[in-house]
Amino acid sequence: MSNIQSLRGMKDILANDSKLFTYFCENASKIAKNYGFEYIETPILEETALFKRSVGESSDIVNKEMYQFIDKGDNDVCLRPEGTAGVVRSFIQNKFDKAGGIKRWYYYGPMFRYERPQKGRLREFHQFGAEVFGVSSVYEDANIIMMIKDILDFFGISFSLKLNSLGCKECMPTYKENLVTHLSSFKTELCEDCNRRIETNPIRVLDCKNEKCQSLLQNAPKITNNLCASCDSDFEKLKEILDFNKVSYEIDSNLVRGLDYYSKTAFEFVSNEIGAQSAIAGGGRYDRLVEFLGGKSTAGIGFAIGIERLLELVKIKEEAEDIYYIGALSEKALNQVMKVANIKRKTNLTFIEYTSRGFAKHFTNAEKVGANVVVLIGEDELNDNTVYVKNLTTKIENKINIEDL
Ligand code: HAM
Repeated sequence: MSNIQSLRGMKDILANDSKLFTYFCENASKIAKNYGFEYIETPILEETALFKRSVGESSDIVNKEMYQFIDKGDNDVCLRPEGTAGVVRSFIQNKFDKAGGIKRWYYYGPMFRYERPQKGRLREFHQFGAEVFGVSSVYEDANIIMMIKDILDFFGISFSLKLNSLGCKECMPTYKENLVTHLSSFKTELCEDCNRRIETNPIRVLDCKNEKCQSLLQNAPKITNNLCASCDSDFEKLKEILDFNKVSYEIDSNLVRGLDYYSKTAFEFVSNEIGAQSAIAGGGRYDRLVEFLGGKSTAGIGFAIGIERLLELVKIKEEAEDIYYIGALSEKALNQVMKVANIKRKTNLTFIEYTSRGFAKHFTNAEKVGANVVVLIGEDELNDNTVYVKNLTTKIENKINIEDL
């Protein structure tokens, strides 16, 4: 009988990756909290209609990539392909839209998309994301971008930032019409996907990966040249704030994002160190989404970082804190070892050896677990309430009172 393997495109996170994964989530959470975000956790399984109405029926995610099924109660459900829709559902369900005010939430967890797996593209992957409700000021757009920058900077990840504005309900429809008119003159030369998109969501044609389509699109009208006065002034202001804060970016008027809920600001953070799947984070404004999902009209903006794509880039900062190894030199001292370890664990990572050993064996064990301070207790130490301590970095060794440890 052959062993059961994990499903294609789904990976265990273990060994060094699990270290990096938790290091990333802990420190990104800390940064989000400093920006005033609170943790939110929403269910992994939601009604399929939620994603159809938010991410959009014309998107590849909803069209081709959902893990969708009918559950035992005859409900049409699916594993979430992204985090925003569930957070917006929760915002409305808990009546925060009616209450007014501002909400800032961050989250992390698994997302599921039935894509063709390749390096950097999984079927189960993890996102670290954040959503803000009730702030229409473009300063919040800048704030979100700077928070992502802070997160990536913390982990020593270099990136470039692509920025676009997708307009609003005033300017986008006219732009779409102009684009469709422009495309109709060479429609037959565009790929099959583009032809489908002209019917369903024409702006998606702009980010077609097909080289022939891209060359045909060179003279297509640009959304950034067709924004209404309000979208244009917000976009200009956003650029000004980013310039003032020395955040570099490039304008990419073909950046349309693969989810249909965006309006105004859209952005992507890209790394050139991880291969073809280079987007490490993406997001933007979605001022109409709360209303689309049945809530009271509320401004929204957010982003998500793809954690797996970052893992190979995350550099763990050497933590200055000491790592302890505590062991007994005699069976009788084991209880005391336990007691001392419990005290030390309140402040430091501490390993215990449950079997009494000689000096040399303890030092080998300590090295194996990466400890830099070795604490040993034998019968002598037990009798006078002391411990033997050696700092492996400074090589200093001492016998000290337990209270002084
Ligand atoms: P997204 O661009 O679809 O946006 O995904 C965000 C990030 O998730 C991507 O930049 C990428 O790093 C990672 N990602 C996406 N698909 C995969 C995959 N198959 N395998 C590995 N990593 C992947 C969203 O999901 C929006 N909800 C972001 C957002 C939040 N917008 C507003 N609020």
